[in-house]
Amino acid sequence: MNLGDEQLSHVSHPNPVPAREREALLRNPVFGRVFTDHMVTIRYSEEWGWYDGKVCPQGELPVHPGSLVLHYAQEIFEGMKAYRLPDGGVTLFRPDANARRFHNSAVRLAMPPLPEELFVKSVRSLVRTDQDWIPRAEEGALYLRPFMIATEAALGLKPSAEYLYAVVACPVGSYVQSDASAITLWASETYSRAAPGGTGEAKCGGNYAASLAAHAEAVREGCDQVVFLDAVERRWVEEVGSMNVFFVFDDGSLQTPPLTGTILPGITRDSLITLAGDLGLKVREEPYSIDQWQADAESGRLREVFGCGTAAVVTPIGKVRSQSHDFTIGDGEAGPVAQRLKSALTDLQNGRRPDPYGWLDRVL
Ligand code: PLP
Ligand code: COI
Repeated sequence: MNLGDEQLSHVSHPNPVPAREREALLRNPVFGRVFTDHMVTIRYSEEWGWYDGKVCPQGELPVHPGSLVLHYAQEIFEGMKAYRLPDGGVTLFRPDANARRFHNSAVRLAMPPLPEELFVKSVRSLVRTDQDWIPRAEEGALYLRPFMIATEAALGLKPSAEYLYAVVACPVGSYVQSDASAITLWASETYSRAAPGGTGEAKCGGNYAASLAAHAEAVREGCDQVVFLDAVERRWVEEVGSMNVFFVFDDGSLQTPPLTGTILPGITRDSLITLAGDLGLKVREEPYSIDQWQADAESGRLREVFGCGTAAVVTPIGKVRSQSHDFTIGDGEAGPVAQRLKSALTDLQNGRRPDPYGWLDRVL
């Protein structure tokens, strides 16, 4: 049996959160703490292929203590959002791009790729089922977290023969919890995020587990986020926490590190490159070193820096520190180019301006 194009079955929650309680939860949700009533689960075995796909009440997953995911971290995930439209409808943003990246992550982690149509269908089904959980607030959205874990009970190191794919959803507001208009970064000289040949361009949990100590170091140093430098020369800027990074120069051009295999190919990054072009801004995908970053910040050639990602949207960066660097970009506050690009992106995602690229996938 293979699910292919068949419908997912539906099992409604017998006791969904009452409407009044839900409305209170939607008022100011902390990122990733409030979960909707339902989830999607689909199972895989080598023998059966993809089977038993359903939208069902959100609840605990049965996981054997010997499951390969618990010992060797054979796991991948995605992050995407459903947005409320002005006419009350609901849209996803480029879900096909998330499906493709999930496919690529599966291949890198030696997992069976979920058919991309099934990925998109599963996310659409959950959004339709839990549509009442989409916040109406300006920056609100329903964050969707598709993931896949290796469920075969086996302690010998090998790819699992069985998997569980699931999607859960969280109403979210703004991801960044800082009152400042721009964040401060710590450039770690102790830790790397990804090395050539590693899993940097895959969205797998292991990358994030490995980044936690670096983030903790940044917080100990009084910074908001860590900026990762390349693992070989320790000077090329790669990513900022869970964001890709853009530099804005005084001639109006932008630069972002190229996708060489150690950087997550962000869908926000890709979208902003296109939207910047629409605004007449040229974007170079070229390496940028931390020493050049400091020199350009000090000379004034560099005007703005910002991070971008699904959760963080566009987040201005004001200051950078490390054991051997300490500099401020511009006046250390949010800048106009970041703001223009953020508006261009969020206006499109929320249906406040036309969608010339066909990026919206309307589900309701
Ligand atoms: N880089 C990392 C390490 C991330 O975790 C994310 C977030 O998903 C991004 C970049 C941005 O990717 P996207 O724009 O697809 O959310
Ligand atoms: C996202 O932006 O979707 C992410 O995956 C960030 C996450 C680590 C909170």
